[in-house]
Amino acid sequence: MLTIDSVTKIFGEPATGYRALKDVSIEVPEGEFLCLLGPSGCGKTTLMNIMAGFEGINGGRVLLHGRPVTGPGRDRMMFFQDAGSALFPWQTVEENVQYGLKLQRIPAAERRRRVDFNLSMVGLDEHRRKFPAQLSGGMRQRLQIARGLAVDPDILLMDEPFGALDAMSKRRMQGFLLDIWQRTGKTIVFVTHDIAEAILLADRIAVMSVGPDSRFRDIVTIEIPRPRDPSSPGFGEVYAQIERLLGHDLDRHEG
Ligand SMILES: Nc1ncnc2c1ncn2[C@@H]1O[C@H](COP(=O)(O)OP(=O)(O)OP(=O)(O)O)[C@@H](O)[C@H]1O
Ligand SMILES: [Mg+2]
Repeated sequence: MLTIDSVTKIFGEPATGYRALKDVSIEVPEGEFLCLLGPSGCGKTTLMNIMAGFEGINGGRVLLHGRPVTGPGRDRMMFFQDAGSALFPWQTVEENVQYGLKLQRIPAAERRRRVDFNLSMVGLDEHRRKFPAQLSGGMRQRLQIARGLAVDPDILLMDEPFGALDAMSKRRMQGFLLDIWQRTGKTIVFVTHDIAEAILLADRIAVMSVGPDSRFRDIVTIEIPRPRDPSSPGFGEVYAQIERLLGHDLDRHEG
């Protein structure tokens, strides 16, 4: 469904600029939950921006349904860590969800149906007349997700969406996202630098190396059946395996 083929990205002049990504390749099948994992600055956001069509490339190809990605499109929806800044503070919860539907000129009855459906899916039904400032951080994230799902994209591109949440809210949101993913069958590309989060969520984890010339160090398939238990031995083994993959880079990064 989504093809990243030998993608190279240089910021600035090709000869002198920063070589962020080098020959990055992956094939993401429909319905997959893919996590991009790697240390800060390795190019996760850059790769997401490329998939979203916000950022051009210096080599390789990005194909969606076999067609080159040349810019942003309705088939992809980007979700950000800071839900608050992605939402309109002057609009209520339901108006925020309606917004993209109005842009797409979806008729009023269908708009109402999608607003109701998605607000109840994220459990914000009873909060529909509140404003974003009146919600908790986790609720704002759920609103961002409802708003994104309402326009029915094929792929959800999520850049550390739970990075700013406390441990308990984060755990709840992970369960919630897995539930939505299983119910909708959407394809999800999810960026994190939290190893446990990646193992909990992903079908596959693409482990990135530090830049310059960042690439996929390895792509690990997570075979642990769901629901996954972080305290199980199998989970711990995968954790250690991925920590080893990251280890060298992390030492350099934090040293
Ligand atoms: N517009 C830009 N111009 C120049 N360099 C950039 C630009 N955007 C990103 N970079 C560089 O590209 C590299 C990758 O950045 P990116 O934001 O993709 O990292 P990341 O993996 O998302 O990091 P984090 O985990 O901290 O969010 C970094 O070295 C960064 O400095
Ligand atoms: Mg980033």
